[in-house]
Amino acid sequence: TTKTFKLNTGAAIPAIGLGTWQSAPNEVKDAVQAALAIGYRHIDTAFAYGNEKEVGEGIRASGVPREQIWLTTKLDNPWHKRVPEAIERSLENLGTSYVDLYLMHWPCSTDPNNLKKHLEGWDFVDTWREMQKLLDTGKVRNIGVSNFGIRNLERLLNDPSCKVVPAVNQVELHPGNPSPKLFNYCTSKGIHLSGYSPLGSAGSPLYSNETLNSIAKEKGRTVQQILLAWGIQKGWSVLPKSVNKSRIEANWQLDGWELSEEDIKKIDSIKERFKVCDDAWLPIKVFFGDDE
Ligand code: A2P
Repeated sequence: TTKTFKLNTGAAIPAIGLGTWQSAPNEVKDAVQAALAIGYRHIDTAFAYGNEKEVGEGIRASGVPREQIWLTTKLDNPWHKRVPEAIERSLENLGTSYVDLYLMHWPCSTDPNNLKKHLEGWDFVDTWREMQKLLDTGKVRNIGVSNFGIRNLERLLNDPSCKVVPAVNQVELHPGNPSPKLFNYCTSKGIHLSGYSPLGSAGSPLYSNETLNSIAKEKGRTVQQILLAWGIQKGWSVLPKSVNKSRIEANWQLDGWELSEEDIKKIDSIKERFKVCDDAWLPIKVFFGDDE
């Protein structure tokens, strides 16, 4: 779908973007090129994914002009105290002079000399202060955050050094982790949500969910298409990852049909809860329960 969402900066972010977490460097170039040929205009990557270089190669191989593409990358945890160097590295990897969206990947600054330790004396609020400065350099067009719950967003927004409300908060969103309170909170603050792992990631338990399968059957669509349409109709952009051309193509086909209110209610009432990405690997806790 070519649908877009308007951000608090006035920019329009395409409702569907190609996710590249867990896309191997040798596969991602072709995936990006295929997605752009199909019509995608939004690619989501991160320094931490280790594939920025190949994402950039895919963009150039597609022949689609850079300015027609929404490109997002993310500041890695051990780089919080070195924001100007971090963006420079990402731009160099990507082979581009700017990104459309630069996200703080996690609300956690990690000690670069010891990845098991939080960086002493450096809070994510300090990181945000540095990220705000990037807006004047032309290297980033919009800034935002990722993996922020309500608690950390409150801390950021209430800090006197916070002059720019994040344009986007990118978080895990699917019917097993629907985060309604976080969505309402972000909406009330003008922060757009983007959903990662919208399909429930590799080996998704959602693919065998009865509710989703019955709606898919009735609509003559795949469960994956139902999941993506659900997210977009709920009001967030979705970032399905695939390195397979026919699945990349199928995930794009969301125009000319939609879910009814009743379908959406049925999906909202799926009870099974699971999270693809927790915070156990980080030196500090960043999630404090549902939506927090
Ligand atoms: P693949 O890359 O081989 O297509 P998520 O976006 O929630 O992280 O989910 C991505 C996972 O779902 C990947 O394992 C991806 O595998 C798979 N996937 C992506 N699109 C589809 C689809 N349309 N049908 C089935 N599996 C899909």
